Amino acid sequence: MRILFFGAPGSGKGTQSKLIAKQQTIPHLSTGDMLREAKKNQTSIGLEAAKYMDHGKLVPDEVIINLIAERIEASDCKSGFILDGFPRTLPQGEALARMFEARGEQIDRVIYLQIDSEAVVHRLIGRRICSQCGEEYHVEFKKPSQEGICDQCSGKLIQRDDDHEEKILTRLGVYESQTAPLIDYYSKQGVLVKVMASGEIAEITKRIEETLS
Ligand code: AP5
Repeated sequence: MRILFFGAPGSGKGTQSKLIAKQQTIPHLSTGDMLREAKKNQTSIGLEAAKYMDHGKLVPDEVIINLIAERIEASDCKSGFILDGFPRTLPQGEALARMFEARGEQIDRVIYLQIDSEAVVHRLIGRRICSQCGEEYHVEFKKPSQEGICDQCSGKLIQRDDDHEEKILTRLGVYESQTAPLIDYYSKQGVLVKVMASGEIAEITKRIEETLS
């Protein structure tokens, strides 16, 4: 299957898409994760991306389109993949459509995770990530066994640079102006499925599974 996870920052795209990718045994491709990795390794893409990410802005379309175009050519994407956080602008959506056309493939579903902004701010301010393996936690909803330490690798838990209130509000504004127009774009193609993204994580996963069966 070829599935896109779509929604505002903090709507749960990463949490849910990783679970579904595991179930479907297809790769999980997160542009946010790819860019953070590039930033950590100080590659030219990472250094360029940091200028935008650190301010809650979108990385230029051409950078991200090339990144995805290259990634989906890898052999592990032949029988399907999940896109988390791409596309995020209409030009990205159109570029993805051209990639699918060239491959003779189509999008099976766009899962649109719907949630209100207040809940998102609360989720993102409390998010912590492992500085070593990237595992995600939350100070209230998903606590590690030992405060500040990753359960998986004992790495130090840190707060993402863009998870401070001011930057979260910028990201929400960017989502409304540049990303939300894709809702209409995919609705018209008949592939968009709306899923209420509030409630327990397992409950939301169940709702998504129902739309995929
Ligand atoms: P990215 O990493 O994609 O950030 P985002 O879209 O802002 O999304 P988040 O990761 O913040 O939220 P999410 O929806 O994945 O929620 P999550 O599951 O983590 O992108 C970062 C930056 O990279 C962008 O700002 C941009 O600069 C750049 N970028 C990336 N893609 C790009 C593109 N295509 N074009 C241009 N630039 C691009 O959950 C959040 C928190 O809530 C976690 O702590 C989680 O544990 C918790 N949580 C999840 N579900 C629940 C629940 N049901 N109940 C309680 N807590 C929950």
